[in-house]
Amino acid sequence: MQRNGHEGHSKHTSRWEYAPSPEPRDVLKLQPRYGLFINGEFVEPHIGRYFTTLNPATEEVLAEVAYADAEDVDRAVRAARRAYETIWSRLPGKERAKYLFRIARILQERSREFAVLESLDNGKPIRESRDVDLPLTIAHFFYYAGWADKLEYAFPGRTPRPLGVAGQIIPWNFPLLMAAWKIAPALATGNTVVLKPAETTPLTALLLCEVFQQADLPPGVVNIITGDGQTGAWLVQHPDVDKIAFTGSTEVGKLIQKAVAGTRKRLTLELGGKAAHVIFEDAAIDQAIEGIVNGIYFNQGHVCCAGSRLLVQESIAELVIRKLKRRIQLLRIGDPLDKNTDIGAINSLQQLRKIERLVEIGIQEGAEIYQSDCALPNRGYWYRPTILTKVSMAHTVAREEIFGPVLSVLTFRTPDEAVQIANNIRYGLSAGVWTNKGSKYLEFAARVKAGVVWCNTYNKFDPASPFGGYKESGFGREGGVHGLAPYVAF
Ligand code: NAI
Ligand code: MG
Repeated sequence: MQRNGHEGHSKHTSRWEYAPSPEPRDVLKLQPRYGLFINGEFVEPHIGRYFTTLNPATEEVLAEVAYADAEDVDRAVRAARRAYETIWSRLPGKERAKYLFRIARILQERSREFAVLESLDNGKPIRESRDVDLPLTIAHFFYYAGWADKLEYAFPGRTPRPLGVAGQIIPWNFPLLMAAWKIAPALATGNTVVLKPAETTPLTALLLCEVFQQADLPPGVVNIITGDGQTGAWLVQHPDVDKIAFTGSTEVGKLIQKAVAGTRKRLTLELGGKAAHVIFEDAAIDQAIEGIVNGIYFNQGHVCCAGSRLLVQESIAELVIRKLKRRIQLLRIGDPLDKNTDIGAINSLQQLRKIERLVEIGIQEGAEIYQSDCALPNRGYWYRPTILTKVSMAHTVAREEIFGPVLSVLTFRTPDEAVQIANNIRYGLSAGVWTNKGSKYLEFAARVKAGVVWCNTYNKFDPASPFGGYKESGFGREGGVHGLAPYVAF
């Protein structure tokens, strides 16, 4: 072990550097170019256009992927319709379950390969892709495999029917996990799928197609088409799609809601968030600090339910801020494939610019900035863990989703005031609360308008637990028995 170059900062505890410990890349065989996955096989896009996806930690091109235009979208929807009518909707639930179990087991066997690819394409630390994204993805397929033959118990006294073809559009922050959240419940309920991954992170969804082939999933049951927002819009507008499920920005969510208004299409939206993470004076402070750090710096803050607004009770504000500042100096930022890395790369240059712009606005509006002084790699897209103090709800950084490793700190005096600040926002996806009094967190959880409320923990997920928002964070739930409802009719 060797000391890094930060001894000069006597006010901080310095980081100790470990020897590099990168996960080997050779578990993975990347193709130079990927087609569209339609009707069980990779096909050329009809106009032959491709675009590249990068490793945001190095700016190296990882692969070329196909650009699906309106005609390709139509091809995929027709394949999904055919598979729905001829095979999938006719299979008994227990037969559908077998495929889902098989997909889950193959993912387990290949999880290392998927984790490495997710870290390469997204920039997230291998520790997260290996210990969070992959286990949760697999658990999701297992969980919904279990429901496939028990739907009458999910909806007692009613007979659930599938809807038909589901068009699903996902973002870049949890690429494989979001694909699982969308595909598993759709297939369990007897629907077929056309899924569009985000343009900067298409590779794990494309590798998942190999798993579908290995599992002998009938052709056309899942089709994966790559492209940009326009490709997504074509999918939304396609007349033969019965249901749209979208996760992404509130802005695009609103466009999609307009586009499907007046059609028979069913819609669920999982959009932005600006969670209040509340810490009361009676909380176990050191545990709360770890929870806050996990809440905002996890996955570079690329999390819709990130605890991005810290609401700290005034009597402990100084202590909490001091401890937080010390703690972020210890976070390791760098090579996502290194097992010691805490914070990886920002997913795209565009997202990096957005974070920089919003933090600049925060400073102009009077916030005080504190950043980790860690060294950053020379290439790639990086942003230091950042704390903004002296923030009030009038500030842009307290209201807008930054989607980066930036914590805005506000203070409150009473539990009432904490609830009032927490709810004074257009979003309502998640919240967190730290206190040693059960009555206090139960009251907070009951009064805060958020789909998920974590008590004395943060960013914990389970496939059996529903997830989704209020207000401009969207509607509909994913996960749990609730997550079946958007995919069935009666
Ligand atoms: P985005 O909402 O533009 O992209 C999400 C997905 O929607 C991508 O697959 C994209 O290709 C697709 N899309 C874009 N325009 C579309 C349209 N008109 N019709 C159909 N599909 C469309 O998000 P973007 O631009 O990547 O990120 C912008 C901001 O959105 C982020 O800074 C963050 O604040 C927020 N965001 C929230 C997410 C969440 O999990 N709730 C995920 C990603 C971004
Ligand atoms: Mg990429």
